[in-house]
Amino acid sequence: MFSKLSNLRTLSQFHRSIHSTFTWSSSFASPQTSQGPLSSEEVYARETKYSAHNYHPIPVALERGKGVYVWDVEGRRYFDFLSAYSAVNQGHCHPKIVEALTRQADKLTLTSRAFYNNVFGEYAEYVTKLFQYDKVLPMNTGVEAGETACKLARRWAYTVKGVPRYKAKIVFAVGNFWGRTLAAISSSSDPTSYDGFGPFMPGFELIPYSDLPALESALQDPNVAAFMVEPIQGEAGVIVPDPGYLSGVRDLCTKYNALFIADEIQTGLGRTGKWLAVDHENVRPDIVLLGKALSGGLYPVSAVLCDDEIMLTIKPGEHGSTYGGNPLACRVATASLEVLEEERLAQNADQMGNIFRNELMKLPSNIVSTVRGKGLLNAVVIRETKEYTAWEVCLRLRDNGLLAKPTHGNIIRLAPPLVIKEDEIREAVEIISKTILSF
Ligand SMILES: Cc1ncc(COP(=O)(O)O)c(C=O)c1O
Repeated sequence: MFSKLSNLRTLSQFHRSIHSTFTWSSSFASPQTSQGPLSSEEVYARETKYSAHNYHPIPVALERGKGVYVWDVEGRRYFDFLSAYSAVNQGHCHPKIVEALTRQADKLTLTSRAFYNNVFGEYAEYVTKLFQYDKVLPMNTGVEAGETACKLARRWAYTVKGVPRYKAKIVFAVGNFWGRTLAAISSSSDPTSYDGFGPFMPGFELIPYSDLPALESALQDPNVAAFMVEPIQGEAGVIVPDPGYLSGVRDLCTKYNALFIADEIQTGLGRTGKWLAVDHENVRPDIVLLGKALSGGLYPVSAVLCDDEIMLTIKPGEHGSTYGGNPLACRVATASLEVLEEERLAQNADQMGNIFRNELMKLPSNIVSTVRGKGLLNAVVIRETKEYTAWEVCLRLRDNGLLAKPTHGNIIRLAPPLVIKEDEIREAVEIISKTILSF
């Protein structure tokens, strides 16, 4: 009911009033001692009091999710247009993935890779055949997949390419984002990510994004092991490179004998309207990184895919993770991939994305300066004024029943679960239009 625009005024009044009236009560010593369900304001206050302040969330306290919707603790329903940064491509709590998780949870969850388990091999066979690579290396979070790719690239450079010991370089593009570890921030061009956390990892180099001459010039250094790049830069604000960029990257990496690492953690698994975003230009990277939607939002699962020449440069004991390849993760990942296949979610993302962008292009250009994206990975750029910022647009979207978050100031990413249907896309467009027009 809260997706109805008629509730706009009541909801925004509600949010304003709870912000101004709440004062922290010290009555919760532990979750067990709290009295009844918490209000949204109480949820914000407890989290702020007891957890690190490393995020700045949109004020909404979610309790439940199903498909394209989430509900807050007061029962208000919202369209989820963030999808946990593209982890929930299959929709919240997809029944097939939940079933895979609960069934396996009762049987065997973690053995570590000190022993074999009867699920990992089945998943490894499925995922490698699906993406046509010789091998998979299982990790948990996206950033661990990125770290693994960097280690593989360095090891390959020393043992196959013949780069002198510890001279290997990895090239990245300005605006890249692949997580928060020291290696990831060492390759970042965003001061919010790296400032104050040095010293940084050596052997990383930055070039402009979507710039093939810059790549060619960087690759002339024979010590370059790899170029790691997002086919569309997600966190930078859904930056779509020029047509021909990905095939150009492929050609140059082949020409100069450097590995092409495609970070498909946000763009992969149907998000941009193809299984992988590199499929838009029919190119095959040397290493593909998957994460996020590989588990449909249920569990951290990531994967590195490549062929034997690269993967087998790492020997037993030289890399790993306690949880990587655990039976629970493997069942969840298998079910998540099957859902993408069975429900043809890449095709749906392509179709719904075209409708969505066509409708968003009709928004007044004095407020929305740009609409861009592919499939269901889209962004609008807001012309900010003294009267409003992208953050305020997101607060009003929330009041109108749709959740989105600004990325890099005035850019709002719009990325719903890929299970969204046409009537839902049209209803969401109506909410976005009414919200934008209300400024
Ligand atoms: C392209 C890309 N790579 C890697 C990551 C890191 O994933 P995680 O947060 O699971 O470590 C992200 C996260 O947003 C991402 O967008």
